[in-house]
Amino acid sequence: MTEITRDVVVVGAGPAGLTAANRLKEAGLSVAVLEARDRVGGRTWTDDIEGATLEIGGQWVSPDQEALLETLEELGLETFERYREGDSVYISKAGEHTRFTGDIFPVAPETAAELERLIEKIDVMVAELDPDRPWEHPRAAELDRISFEAWLAAETSDQEARDNIALFIGPAMLTKPVHAFSMLQAMLMAASAGSFSNLVDADFILDKRIVGGMQEVSKRLAARLGGDVFLAQPVRRIEQDADGVVVHADGMHVRAKRVILAHAPVLYSRITFDPPLPRRQHQLHQHLSMGLVIKVHAVYDRPFWREAGLSGTVFSPYQLVHEAYDNTNHEDARGTLVGFVSDVHADGEFELSPEERRERILDSLAAYYGPEARNPVVYYESDWGAEEWTRGAYAASFDLGGLHRYGADLRTPVGPISFACSDIAGAGFQHVDGAIRMGRLAAQNLITDLGA
Ligand code: FDA
Repeated sequence: MTEITRDVVVVGAGPAGLTAANRLKEAGLSVAVLEARDRVGGRTWTDDIEGATLEIGGQWVSPDQEALLETLEELGLETFERYREGDSVYISKAGEHTRFTGDIFPVAPETAAELERLIEKIDVMVAELDPDRPWEHPRAAELDRISFEAWLAAETSDQEARDNIALFIGPAMLTKPVHAFSMLQAMLMAASAGSFSNLVDADFILDKRIVGGMQEVSKRLAARLGGDVFLAQPVRRIEQDADGVVVHADGMHVRAKRVILAHAPVLYSRITFDPPLPRRQHQLHQHLSMGLVIKVHAVYDRPFWREAGLSGTVFSPYQLVHEAYDNTNHEDARGTLVGFVSDVHADGEFELSPEERRERILDSLAAYYGPEARNPVVYYESDWGAEEWTRGAYAASFDLGGLHRYGADLRTPVGPISFACSDIAGAGFQHVDGAIRMGRLAAQNLITDLGA
């Protein structure tokens, strides 16, 4: 058993933990990053699947994600635009396939007007909300008591308008059914991206990708830390004493003044705390849960949809794959589509055999792109819900009422223990940008605290 001493231990080598560790080290503090997996990057992971390079986790960058953009610049990473030339496709409840351009789906004029009215109304409400303090919104308690589904039902009797607005925050972002989270939580999701209009705009929210993949951010941050990143070291126990903490991983103990838990909150309870965390944290952590989404990659010998003048961008709240995009790699001659199957639909698909699931998902892609979509040369489904050190995707959010009740304590340190991850971010919530912001914040607080 290795025993080392550091100023700060960081648990988790995702973007939050590695950002924090770099900042601490730059300030002259010694660090050790303990990572459960045998790789860095957490929910960002680029892998070669049957000869295709796929981003299995987080990948897109949007223009307002300043912390991520600064990090990319600092690390010398280049970006490229998502392919977006040509028409998008929408499939209606009746199964009608329509090509369109712009953000508003090709629905009946009265439904389009409702969509525009709702987007504008949510934008106004979201503009009143500070993503870092949503619980301070004057109507926070009331808005946290009503589900997003019930709020939409009270707003409009136009079912197709409701289904489409629901799509942007339910299946597409929190990856939970819209009855399972509040209007306040939905507003936080929108505010974290600057506005609801930004979330609705695929060209904004899914603007760019990183050459080499998003995991490169963590790989390069880890490289700067050299031998201070320890892989395959799941942290099992954290003991506090008068001098700080002793952090026990499978193969090592680290004595330190402080520890940062830099992973999803659903995993805090995997660690034994001595003394236990306070009642408030025990309670609050139980009200956060991960969403569930299957990210599906289908690689073809060429991007055949471009020949038909399609951008690859497709949506439908009535399809198993509720959204899909051209995800062709930088300078790759092959064509890649990425599609998403969310929340209860993902539950249903995981009940099936892999063969049945693949057939149903490819049928859904074929409904958008035509029969050629049924024959990829490489097919891959992410399964983050089955990953012991993540347990869902994309991130964690509160149940009804939880954000107003507990949100203010999400980042409150407990003695020498602080918290940093995208799940507790305001701006950049659930995104790599938010992870970086939270890593910076936790590090800055410790630098001040430790007088470095
Ligand atoms: P993250 O989970 O990445 O890292 C935490 C690390 O802690 C993990 O490596 C884990 O193994 C480790 N760990 C946990 N418990 C431990 C223990 N007890 N001991 C030691 N180590 C422990 N974002 C985005 O910006 N654009 C996008 O397009 C997407 N898309 C997307 C798709 C999919 C399928 C997923 C799953 C996620 C996204 N995201 C995304 C979200 C993004 O990937 C996510 O917000 C960040 O990776 C979160 O970074 P953190 O560092 O906070 O946690």
